[in-house]
Amino acid sequence: MTAPANKTVFAPAKINLALHVTGQRTDGYHLLDSVVMFADVGDTVTVAAAARMSLQVTGPMAAGVPADDRNLCWKAAEAFGAPVAITLDKHLPAAAGIGGGSSDAAAVLRAMEALFDRGHGCDTAALGADVPVCMLARAARMQGIGDRILPLSMAPLHAVLVNPGVGVSTPEVFRALSRKDNPPMSEPPCGDPALPWLLAQRNDLQAAACALQPVVASVLDTLGALDGARLVRMSGSGATCFALFDDAAAAQRAAALLQRTHPSWWSTATVLS
Ligand code: C5P
Repeated sequence: MTAPANKTVFAPAKINLALHVTGQRTDGYHLLDSVVMFADVGDTVTVAAAARMSLQVTGPMAAGVPADDRNLCWKAAEAFGAPVAITLDKHLPAAAGIGGGSSDAAAVLRAMEALFDRGHGCDTAALGADVPVCMLARAARMQGIGDRILPLSMAPLHAVLVNPGVGVSTPEVFRALSRKDNPPMSEPPCGDPALPWLLAQRNDLQAAACALQPVVASVLDTLGALDGARLVRMSGSGATCFALFDDAAAAQRAAALLQRTHPSWWSTATVLS
């Protein structure tokens, strides 16, 4: 059988439904306890074997995304150890707390595994804290600095994602934390509805992100006022926030309303799984 000439892989948005900061290592990295699910919106990565590395960035969110070795896609291909031509079709906002760059890097590694018919053989956590969970790309609990991944069985959730168009620097948010030794998450429910448990968890980065970028607090307030919003929280280090709804119709109504009332914000209904 001949190997395929190229491989296209979907790179879904990663949503931290809860994110607890439980400590800090001596090297500065923070210990996390987080539950993560993946959206049905995301970027698309196409990879082809080539004589030398190249990266082309296309799509509605391409502006400002580096198309060289600063991009995590490029670093992932280098870590895999083969030159490839990458096309990154960018639909997710960057520096947004939804793992765009990490999910793109994980998609490059999965595409290269298929193209070259071998394992990636690289330390995915060294590429970025969210890369290991993005390799799994399904509901999981993340611990350590993001390197300990435990798959979770969770029913799909209906959500609206909103990003107000400001980038938030993850290191700055971590630096602005007032406490770094918060309690871990309680044990995730097994098979029971996730919502009551999620409501009792937190995102410990949320207050710091709101202080650095007050528009994040406006997004949270706006989401909280939506009809049928059951839980409203920030993802990752922001600025993207989400609201959970009982069903797809309620999420779609909320997203349509936001697109009318806040046309400059990136808003979308999605299913998390
Ligand atoms: O690994 P990633 O590029 O996502 O992390 C960006 C920055 O966020 C790190 O350089 C570090 O400053 C901070 N970070 C942290 N603890 C983590 C993950 C990220 O302090 N567990």
